[in-house]
This record gives sequence, C-alpha cells and structure tokens, in this order.
Amino acid sequence: MGIQKVMVIGAGQMGSGIAQVCAQAGYEVKLNDMKQEFFERGIGVITKNLSRDVEKGRKTEEEKAAILSRIMMSLDLQDASDVDIIIEAAVENMEVKQSIFKQIDQIAPAHAILATNTSSLPITEIAAVTNRPEQVIGMHFMNPVPVMKLVEIIRGLATSDEVYKAVEDMTVKLSKTPVEVNDFPGFISNRILLPMINEAIYALYEGVATKEAIDDVMKLGMNHPMGPLTLADFIGLDTCLYIMEILHEGLGDSKYRPCPLLRKYVAAGWLGKKSGRGFYVYE
Ligand code: CAA
Ligand code: NAD
Repeated sequence: MGIQKVMVIGAGQMGSGIAQVCAQAGYEVKLNDMKQEFFERGIGVITKNLSRDVEKGRKTEEEKAAILSRIMMSLDLQDASDVDIIIEAAVENMEVKQSIFKQIDQIAPAHAILATNTSSLPITEIAAVTNRPEQVIGMHFMNPVPVMKLVEIIRGLATSDEVYKAVEDMTVKLSKTPVEVNDFPGFISNRILLPMINEAIYALYEGVATKEAIDDVMKLGMNHPMGPLTLADFIGLDTCLYIMEILHEGLGDSKYRPCPLLRKYVAAGWLGKKSGRGFYVYE
C-alpha cells in the first residue's frame, strides 16, 4: 500500500504539526480547514517552526522552501479524491468527526486509509459510519507534533492488518515511534494523563494550593517538563473537557468526572494558550 499523497483535515495546532512532519518526510500534503484564515494561521505556525530550524542550522532555506511547497491549501473535502491517506485532526467531537468521515468515505479513492488523530473517541464508532471500517484507524500524534516522538496507533474492531502495517511504516518514515494500543476510551495516553490533569484542577478548585504551587510540585518533584495546569492550557481546556467527558461516559466510573472548574473555564471561553487565557494569561 504505497502512501504518497496525504490530506490533513483541521489546520489547528495538531493538524498543522501533522502537515509539517508529513511534508518534511517528503509527502505531498493537502491541509484542509473550513476557512482560508484557519489554513493561513496553520501555515504561519509551520513557517515559523521551519524558520527556527533554519536559524538553528538544522535546515537550509532551500529545504524550508521545498517543505512549504509540498503543503497545499484545501477548503473543500472534494480534494480528498486523489489522496492515499486522510488524517483527520478537527475538533474532539463525535458528531463532527462522524460527519467528516461520512463525507470523505464517499470522496476518497477506494484504497485510501481514513485515519483520525482523536485523543479519546472510539475508532470503531467513527469507522461504523463508513463503508470501509477495515481502512479506518487511530493515528494519535502528541503535541507539539514536530517535537514529540510518540504516535499511538489504535486499531478499531475491524481495522485490517494491512492498514495497521501501512500506518506503522508511515509513522517510522515520519521519524516517530509507533506504539500499538486497543480501542478503549482515552486509549493509554489520555486514560493516564487526563485524570492527572483533572485531579490537579480539583486540587486548585478545592484550594489545596495555588496554580503555581501545583505546577511547581509536579515539575520540580516529578521532573515533568510542564506542570499539569500549564499542560492543560497547552493542550486546550476544551479538548481536556471533551476527553474527560469521553472517559466518564465510556468507562462509567465517577473517578473520571470532569472538575466543575474546568467546565466553568470552558464555558467562559478560557480555552488555554490558544484563546489567550486559561489557568494562566498569555500575551
Ligand atoms: N512546535 C514546534 N517546536 C516546538 C514547540 C512547538 N509548539 N514548542 C517547543 N518546540 C521546540 C523548540 O523549538 C525547542 O527546540 P530548539 O530549542 O532545539 O529549537 C524545543 O522544542 C524545546 O523547546 P523550549 O526550549 O522552548 O521549551 P522546553 O524545553 O520547555 O520544551 C516542550 C517544550 C517540548 C513543549 C516541553 O515543555 C514538553 O515536553 N512539554 C510537555 C508536552 C507534552 O506532555 N505533550 C503531550 C500533551 S498530551 C497530547 O498531546 C495528547 C492529547 O491527546 C491531548
Ligand atoms: P484546534 O482547535 O487547535 O484545531 C482544530 C481545527 O479544526 C480548527 O482549525 C478548526 O477550524 C478545524 N475544523 C473544525 N471542524 C472542521 C471541519 N468540519 N472541517 C475541517 N476543519 C475543521 O484543535 P487541536 O488541538 O488541533 O485538536 C485537533 C484534534 O487533535 C482533536 O481531535 C484533539 O482531541 C486531537 N489532539 C489534540 C491534542 C492537543 O494537545 N491539543 C493532542 C493530540 C490529539
């Protein structure tokens, strides 16, 4: 199964990073979003990352230009008609993802793989709205994509071995390390990470310590590169809330209930770094 042409749906923080690493590995990439300004924001981040690589001597200007020339703007899902794999990185919402998968199933060539970068939603349920569930798979990149080595690969109930192998090979070509995981809410990464973040938010909510103190304890005491509240802001508080809701609903245990303070912040539009304010304020 030769993969050459890639479509990435969603040009947000994850989609732009995925498009960047695919283009760096030599793939032709169509980066899709709903509006040109969203694509432009994504390509702006990619350009900034590549410029930093040039400044640091890790890439030449020519390499930067070649990588950028491999990323095309797409504002229409019809552009999926000639790609070999689609990696969906739109918002963490089942209705949105199922609607996208229904459409791309009709448009993409019969051989194309339909992958999702979902953080927590069941791959099997997304696959079920398509006529090719054996070609649907989870390809879960970590944030920031250009830096983090892991791609969690999640098999849906029907995912074929051939498709798994093609995605595993592509992950290695992207200079990432694939780790195989089965299809349960939150997979492994977010089943473990998000309850820790949610607990940190509870500790703040209950007045156990200040946000700075909570982050310092985990940074200095556990050698985490970021404290859990800083990390929550970095992931996006809306995404954190979606994931906690999926864990709560999917695993049915009250230990996964989202902290009311997290709900309040999301309701206020305090989504973390991407909106300029979350637990911390960003310029
Ligand atoms: N995009 C691209 N490159 C980035 C970047 C970004 N957003 N942020 C940092 N980098 C690069 C920098 O360019 C820098 O490289 P050079 O100095 O060599 O140029 C390097 O990463 C280190 O950056 P900094 O020195 O600025 O800062 P740092 O040492 O604190 O590292 C970090 C930044 C890598 C993000 C680090 O803080 C970290 O690992 N944080 C935790 C990240 C994490 O846990 N990610 C997983 C989130 S959960 C998830 O992704 C799953 C989900 O479904 C929610
Ligand atoms: P984001 O809010 O930064 O970006 C989402 C993008 O998708 C936006 O640009 C939006 O305009 C676009 N979009 C929404 N609906 C669309 C549609 N129907 N068609 C095309 N584009 C559409 O979100 P993000 O942080 O990049 O997260 C994207 C996905 O990746 C989510 O499923 C999330 O759970 C997952 N994820 C996030 C992280 C993280 O740390 N933020 C890590 C791993 C996986």
